[in-house]
Amino acid sequence: MKKVTKAVFPAAGMGTRFLPATKANPKEMLPIVDKPLIQYAAEEAAAAGITDLIFIIGRTKRAIADHFDKAYELEVELETRGKLQALEDLRNMLPVNISYIYIRQAEALGLGHAVLCAQPAINDEPFAVLLADDLIDGKPGVTKQMCEMYNYYQCSLVGVQNVAPEETASYGIVAAEPMAPRLSRITQIVEKPAPAVAPSTLGVVGRYVLTPRIFHHLRRIERGAGGELQLTDAIADLLKEQQVLAYEFDGKRYDCGTKLGYLEATVEYALQHPEVSGEFLAYLERRFCLPCRPEPT
Ligand code: UTP
Repeated sequence: MKKVTKAVFPAAGMGTRFLPATKANPKEMLPIVDKPLIQYAAEEAAAAGITDLIFIIGRTKRAIADHFDKAYELEVELETRGKLQALEDLRNMLPVNISYIYIRQAEALGLGHAVLCAQPAINDEPFAVLLADDLIDGKPGVTKQMCEMYNYYQCSLVGVQNVAPEETASYGIVAAEPMAPRLSRITQIVEKPAPAVAPSTLGVVGRYVLTPRIFHHLRRIERGAGGELQLTDAIADLLKEQQVLAYEFDGKRYDCGTKLGYLEATVEYALQHPEVSGEFLAYLERRFCLPCRPEPT
């Protein structure tokens, strides 16, 4: 039985909804309070026991590699200035046993193509895919939840959640037969269907565990929704020969690829942040003249 030890982080999209912030920086480097989205995703993968982090990078290729690289000059500077806590936090950003692999997607041809770019680093193993702009607050993290499911069922899984009926055209949508709590067997998957033809309201969000057979299908798909090579279309082909499960994860998801989702995540994470939560809550109360604190019982 093969365990999931590799994760792919597609981060080569155009990020058009966040221009101009994404002109010189990938969307995945946008910070939520004080950490970039890509780091939340990397921490989620590491907490699931994943040791090989494979980043698919594009136009703005340097930022992510620089972020995870050792920053010698910065460390020396922090030490000289006696900022020892900041130095320690920087050094302990991620566990030491992690390998970082960067693969260039020269042209943003779509998520399916981005995942295909990871094949040389994956070979014949199951792997996770995390879209860092889907920030999910889950305990344990959703990747850990899904890797545990993979260990049991040994088949591909996609993370899903119910979406509003009028929003189906923004998601991959699955039709599925219930199988166990939170789990169902996918019978159909379609990318961005209009509400009138959507097979359900179960929308795919940015977490997957896939068998390596997906590469066979990724090599064969044609341009789909939006003129892009869609991962959803390869999963639809995979379904014809292997079981694929939909997993309704336990966690709150923020769509940080949209301005509104990004702002919501910022507020919620700030309210949990040990350094700023108290003052931020007081600010919100002053600003909106509302008691935001729960009533004492
Ligand atoms: P999105 O559909 O959110 O597209 O990609 P985008 O280009 O990043 O953003 P908008 O729609 O223009 O605002 C979903 C995920 O797939 C990655 C993105 O980086 C994001 O993590 N992606 C998408 C790639 O890595 N390569 C691609 O060619 C397309």
